[in-house]
Amino acid sequence: MYLYETDRILLRPWRESDAEALFKYASDPEVGPRAGWPPHKSVEESLEVIRTIFSGEGMWAVVWKETGEAIGCVGYLPSTSSNLKIEADQAEVGYWIARPYWGMGICTEALGLVVDHCFNVKGFSTLWGTYFPSNPASGRVMEKCGFVDTGRETVCPNLEVGSDQPVRVMKMTRNHQIINQTCRTSQTSPTK
Ligand SMILES: CC(C)(COP(=O)(O)OP(=O)(O)OC[C@H]1O[C@@H](n2cnc3c(N)ncnc32)[C@H](O)[C@@H]1OP(=O)(O)O)[C@@H](O)C(=O)NCCC(=O)NCCS
Repeated sequence: MYLYETDRILLRPWRESDAEALFKYASDPEVGPRAGWPPHKSVEESLEVIRTIFSGEGMWAVVWKETGEAIGCVGYLPSTSSNLKIEADQAEVGYWIARPYWGMGICTEALGLVVDHCFNVKGFSTLWGTYFPSNPASGRVMEKCGFVDTGRETVCPNLEVGSDQPVRVMKMTRNHQIINQTCRTSQTSPTK
């Protein structure tokens, strides 16, 4: 499992000892339903989620380095478990951050690391993401990471919450990421 870090966050695998922190933040009714899942009801349920869903491929705990606490989750779903019908060399990203940490750029930072991993380590050709139009902050996170709006909406029948609600579909190709990186580099190059 790859580990990633920035000055303030660490991406690492989930641990069973994260169950209490997970319950504290994932029981918040403002978090799960916006991502298509119901609020956690007990620490035991959170532990079960860590043992099953969060132990799968491409799932990281977002850890706030200052406290060592897991404050969110970020990752990707390969085509076999994606909510969308996508090709085998593509993946769908997903993420949430605990409410006390919203609006600090943390999700953008974490998703940026996962995007780099998906293209540079996994070699995916295209990444997809969806969000409910009632949750524009999520669309903005993807936009800041380089995703573009496809203009398409669809429903995700596998979601536990909102399976009948349309989601907006965002997309990013590896070529697009290379162009973005080139632009960022040329903008920050010293002038002669
Ligand atoms: C969506 C979510 C992941 C964002 O996490 P975050 O760490 O606060 O995100 P960031 O701080 O990196 O970026 C949020 C961006 O959304 C913007 N934003 C916040 N509320 C907004 C709104 N109502 N409309 C439009 N943009 C909004 C912020 O201003 C910021 O953009 P900016 O940097 O250009 O100002 C977090 O709110 C969350 O976990 N929500 C519940 C679960 C969820 O929605 N998961 C995604 C499911 S698709």
